[in-house]
Amino acid sequence: MLAMNYRGPYRVRLDRNKPMPEILHPQDAIVRVTRACICGSDLHLYHGLVPDTRVGSTFGHEFVGIIEEVGPDVTKVKVGDQVLVPFNIACGECVFCKQEMYGNCHESNPEATAVGAIYGYSHTAGGYNGGQAEYVRVPYANVGPTVIPADMDPDDAVLLTDVVPTGYQAAEMGAIQPGDTVVVFGAGPVGIMAAKCAWLFGAGRVIVIDHLEYRLEFVRNYAQCEAYNFKSLEDPVLFIKKTTGWLGADVCIDAVGADASGNAMQSITGKKLLLQAGAATALHWAINAVKKGGVVSIVGVYGPTDNLVPIGNMMNKGITMRGNQTSVKRLLPRLIEHVQAGRLNPKGIITHRVPLEEVADAYHIFSAKLDECIKPVLIPSSARA
Ligand SMILES: NC(=O)c1ccc[n+]([C@@H]2O[C@H](COP(=O)([O-])OP(=O)(O)OC[C@H]3O[C@@H](n4cnc5c(N)ncnc54)[C@H](O)[C@@H]3O)[C@@H](O)[C@H]2O)c1
Ligand SMILES: [Zn+2]
Ligand SMILES: [Zn+2]
Repeated sequence: MLAMNYRGPYRVRLDRNKPMPEILHPQDAIVRVTRACICGSDLHLYHGLVPDTRVGSTFGHEFVGIIEEVGPDVTKVKVGDQVLVPFNIACGECVFCKQEMYGNCHESNPEATAVGAIYGYSHTAGGYNGGQAEYVRVPYANVGPTVIPADMDPDDAVLLTDVVPTGYQAAEMGAIQPGDTVVVFGAGPVGIMAAKCAWLFGAGRVIVIDHLEYRLEFVRNYAQCEAYNFKSLEDPVLFIKKTTGWLGADVCIDAVGADASGNAMQSITGKKLLLQAGAATALHWAINAVKKGGVVSIVGVYGPTDNLVPIGNMMNKGITMRGNQTSVKRLLPRLIEHVQAGRLNPKGIITHRVPLEEVADAYHIFSAKLDECIKPVLIPSSARA
């Protein structure tokens, strides 16, 4: 089958002969992929920032498709069902899954102490193959795969596997109170969705910070918020203080993670020398720009294990910091409702539809932020007919 194939940092190619996935456990299903997105999280892998990302692996944790085959213990989905598959691989039974912390499953990634397993996200996240391929093995098929409502566009459904729940959980972890000023760092798909969702929680003012003009323009229209270019601000922290009566934002959301730019020292130590787990520039700004007693919500991904952040300011300001991989399954019922009611329009962020065969180009365009790319979706030939 055709599949995305990682060859090393900044090198992706199409594998034309990847063996078909097989049922390895009675609770497995095989899904024929009809849409698979590339995520900002995949860029951390593509840039070589995630440990134990092995040459030959197939990425892709945001996909929808059709159930092709099921193991004997699969009862919740059947052959022919159109499903969306949360990016977390979760057993549904362990102590963390029982608390609906599906991003922290203790069974699917037993080697790790922090994250659960994620499709196509290095051996640090379990070593599972991802869905940027024609077919993918879906473990614990009674837990993750969710039948797509008949009236839902697959382009909306594919964004419910990650981006929509992640933006929503970013806002939720911010514990936004009515009227709050919320600052979102990052105007990628996740930051855009976080800005949109902040309003659902009652924000009174939403400000997005990035340095890509086309994304700032996009988020202003899509999420009806203010948006500023940090390159044209003398200091983004000072700017946020000034515009909030010198108090700071009530809530700051880090929707950037390890690939941040904007601070040479962070970039050199985090991205060039790998002395820390990526550049923590946005998180640094978030901690310093939030008000005393405010909340910093982190969905931007940092690898294991250490980063240079002003923890003394966090302590002395009495900040609450929350972060996690998104618990997609927990949020799906209410997000499906928001999409069906028209309060969220996920597919509005898709800018590029790329044949799976051109996966290498798609990575390059999304990584280099070319062609005003916001969100690319890969479409295998069987779904293009
Ligand atoms: N927690 C989760 O479950 C989860 C799920 C999905 C994605 N993520 C993470 O969310 C982050 C964003 O994902 P995405 O798909 O939107 O990625 P993206 O790469 O498309 O967007 C990141 C944006 O941040 C901007 N940026 C860079 N440095 C900045 C800075 N210092 N301040 C403000 N903006 C800055 C970039 O210009 C870019 O527009 C990534 O770290 C990704 O791994 C987390
Ligand atoms: Zn993702
Ligand atoms: Zn579990």
